Amino acid sequence: MTQQPPLIPVDIQRTEPAPFGSADCTHYGIGFDGLPYILKKVEKHNPLMPVAELVCSRMAASSQIACATGHLANLPNGEQAFASRAESGVLPPKMAASRLTTDAAFLLKVLGTISAIYAFDVFIRNIDRHFGNYLIRQTFAGADLMAVDHSRSLLVTGWPSKKIDLPHDCKTNLCQRILRKTQPLSQVDAVAAIDRLLQLDDDWFSRNICDVPVVWWPAPQRQIVDRWWRRHRTKRLARIRRRLINGSL
Ligand SMILES: Nc1ncnc2c1ncn2[C@@H]1O[C@H](COP(=O)(O)OP(=O)(O)O)[C@@H](O)[C@H]1O
Ligand SMILES: [Mg+2]
Repeated sequence: MTQQPPLIPVDIQRTEPAPFGSADCTHYGIGFDGLPYILKKVEKHNPLMPVAELVCSRMAASSQIACATGHLANLPNGEQAFASRAESGVLPPKMAASRLTTDAAFLLKVLGTISAIYAFDVFIRNIDRHFGNYLIRQTFAGADLMAVDHSRSLLVTGWPSKKIDLPHDCKTNLCQRILRKTQPLSQVDAVAAIDRLLQLDDDWFSRNICDVPVVWWPAPQRQIVDRWWRRHRTKRLARIRRRLINGSL
């Protein structure tokens, strides 16, 4: 089993207050690599947020779910934070919501991506996939969509859990119900995402948390989740797969 951290941390040269008025995302930073990053630190109201964000972004990258990047960042004051490369050309959250709910052609174009993100959200128990947590950005191939914000998922919402259904009235379900009035879920894309998650190996979890600061997540809790990952994750994925195929998710 390799204990090599998968990625080198990003060193941030300066930080600024984030302009989102958000309790979770308080800072914005510029790396020595010259790139802008959205920063999330351990906060009293949600201490497991940075580890949930980091693990989710790495899991998404490993299974090719469209998601903003995630890194461990060293801040100028010596603290460490979760950092996501700030995408440019993004629609403000309100406009993203209106695009998804009024532009049926756009929704059809990104349906495969949204369906894969939904399958991922069920696996990680993300209860907060509201329209503002899809990032819609301009590309040379027109508008496109990716996921951001996994602050209400994974360890924060009690993962790993035996429950498959998300709470009925959580934002993830509310928004799915709205989207499905225009376009049903693409079962093929949702199942394909689960199949890619099934390809992650037994050591994936330990490899991807070995550089997580101990103050973010104490070691005994990690061992419990790592053991669950090795023994039970494929069972959970297989149950989600069956539920997607029989149309009950
Ligand atoms: N990687 C990113 N690139 C560009 N904008 C981002 C990125 N990540 C987040 N944002 C923007 O910042 C807002 C707040 O970030 P988010 O992770 O959703 O934090 P919060 O938990 O406060 O909702 C998002 O709604 C989105 O508009
Ligand atoms: Mg958000």
